Amino acid sequence: MDRIDGDQLDDVAETTLWTLRNRAVEALRADSPFSDVLAVELYEAVDTDYDRFGAPSQSHPLRAQLMDREIRRYLDAHPRGTVVALAEGLQTTYWRLGRPSNRWISVDLPEVIALRERLLPTEDAVEHRPGSALDFSWADGIDADDGVVITAEGLLMYFTPGEAHDLIAFLARRFPGGVLIFDSIPHWFSRKTLSGLDLSEDYQAPPMPFALTVSEAARLIEIPGVTAVDDLDLPPGRGPWSSSVLKRISNLPWLRDHRPSVTRLTF
Ligand SMILES: C[S@@+](CC[C@H](N)C(=O)[O-])C[C@H]1O[C@@H](n2cnc3c(N)ncnc32)[C@H](O)[C@@H]1O
Repeated sequence: MDRIDGDQLDDVAETTLWTLRNRAVEALRADSPFSDVLAVELYEAVDTDYDRFGAPSQSHPLRAQLMDREIRRYLDAHPRGTVVALAEGLQTTYWRLGRPSNRWISVDLPEVIALRERLLPTEDAVEHRPGSALDFSWADGIDADDGVVITAEGLLMYFTPGEAHDLIAFLARRFPGGVLIFDSIPHWFSRKTLSGLDLSEDYQAPPMPFALTVSEAARLIEIPGVTAVDDLDLPPGRGPWSSSVLKRISNLPWLRDHRPSVTRLTF
């Protein structure tokens, strides 16, 4: 694999290296069930100071495993369905899922798609659509009849609330029978990023203006075309991330609106 200069990315595009690092570091651990050989190869191929992203977190590999589970579940029920990965970054979901024959559309900013094209194997099923997820022309030519599962892993928080709601409303209109799975941060964390969240001395996370609590997510049912809203549990991880007691506590009504969440919208 080519060696690539990771310092060519900036702003939100740069965060794709943060989440890649966290998946690769988890996959490299002997005590982790998470396996992602290709993520490790990508991680090693990009020449950058990963330490600037601070201590690795299990949240990103667990989020990836949740997405794997949800995509599999949807494709089991819709064997001819299409997968749309918004802001796919350097995700290797397609390969973790065993290279399904389903059509797979990958949307991200042009500089990140260029990296994907340089670093990842070319696959007949995978189509790259460089551009913003907010420029809805990425959806041209996608047939909703056989089902569409859309993922947005680590994306919506970087949008304004208006942009995030417009995108959800568009997807609900455009893909009846489909699902959207996306993760959200709580308001306290969004505020922290707006006033400058340092992950280390050398790196500040970009502002994340869009926050969504579990209670607010439940109200997305009011958007025309949304037929169900589900709050999804991350799979168990290592250490505190394996605790069913902590999970139950984090789901108590007075705490759940203060934790990050993953939402599935059915259209
Ligand atoms: C935190 S990273 C997540 C990347 C990947 N989903 C993952 O989990 O590893 C955020 C991603 O959002 C992408 N992004 C930012 N703004 C975007 C936009 N308007 N449209 C599509 N992708 C965008 C960035 O390029 C980056 O790949």
